[in-house]
Amino acid sequence: NAPIRVALLGAGTVGSQTARLLVEQQEELANRIGRPMELVGIAVLDPSAVSDPWIDTSLLTTDASELVTRADIVIELIGGIEPARSFLMKAIESGASVVTANKALLAKHGPELYSAASEHGVDIYFEAAVGGAIPIVRPLRESLVGDKVLNVMGIVNGTTNYILDEMTTKGLDFDEALRDAQKKGFAEADPTADIEGLDAAAKAAIIALLAFHTDVRMDDVPVEGITKITADDIAAASAENKVIKLLAVVDQSDAGISARVYPALMSLEHPLASVHGSFNAVFVKSEAADDLMFYGRGAGGAPTASAVVGDVVTEARHIAQGSVGPVIPIYASLPKAPLDAS
Ligand code: HSE
Repeated sequence: NAPIRVALLGAGTVGSQTARLLVEQQEELANRIGRPMELVGIAVLDPSAVSDPWIDTSLLTTDASELVTRADIVIELIGGIEPARSFLMKAIESGASVVTANKALLAKHGPELYSAASEHGVDIYFEAAVGGAIPIVRPLRESLVGDKVLNVMGIVNGTTNYILDEMTTKGLDFDEALRDAQKKGFAEADPTADIEGLDAAAKAAIIALLAFHTDVRMDDVPVEGITKITADDIAAASAENKVIKLLAVVDQSDAGISARVYPALMSLEHPLASVHGSFNAVFVKSEAADDLMFYGRGAGGAPTASAVVGDVVTEARHIAQGSVGPVIPIYASLPKAPLDAS
């Protein structure tokens, strides 16, 4: 009954809360898994900057590349493309399963990582990459895998929803609302990715790949962010009983499949109009299930850590039982709708 070894890369907003859940719930999680789990190391750039009371400083290391070789599950919460991609590849090649919240990486190199995981007989999980705490990856990957997804529409970026909501309900200006979102830990390290719509576009690509079993990447997603939205635009929308929301829309038509991100005018009666603050909501329409709606906290340390640790426990159960989790086969090659199609 040797412990399942878990390595954590990153101790920022989400990493720190992930460590907290793993440490504080250690006994409970061992019961749920049927085997103990041990946090064997936490890789950070600067160990002296980590002061969370639940983090045992003797676990801190600056050598992520070495740490990934002595774990059964590697959690990647450092973000960005490199060195995250290399660490995850090394983990997979060393026989570890991986859990990541890194939407930018998955939207760029997801298919290579999924097939590397398959080749090495390990799993890759990324519930936290889309919609924070909201279960949306697992429903698309597992619950709906027997159905045919027709379209997905959602608010998948907490920072921009927070900014637009504060501008609408409190009359705050853009910069003030952005600063608040950063303070609350919703925004990316560089909030440009949020306000330019790139974070939402990465999530749209991940959703489209899962929905349509086709290789869809960030570059396939036309994107317009919210930096051009002014207080006048918000007021004009309000005058018509509408709100402006940044939407990710994924669908298929005769022209092919498409994924797009753009600010949309929504009637106040639309359920997405009442998604406030940093909350996210995702609508899925599939042929047999018809309409489904997922709603919850789309950003922030603890909510995102909930999804991360859920993935860790799921994988730990597979390891304890000697089974392999669901794979991500990209078997379809659907045409992509021309970029200018609307
Ligand atoms: N910056 C992201 C957001 C974090 O605001 O939604 C969650 O992916």
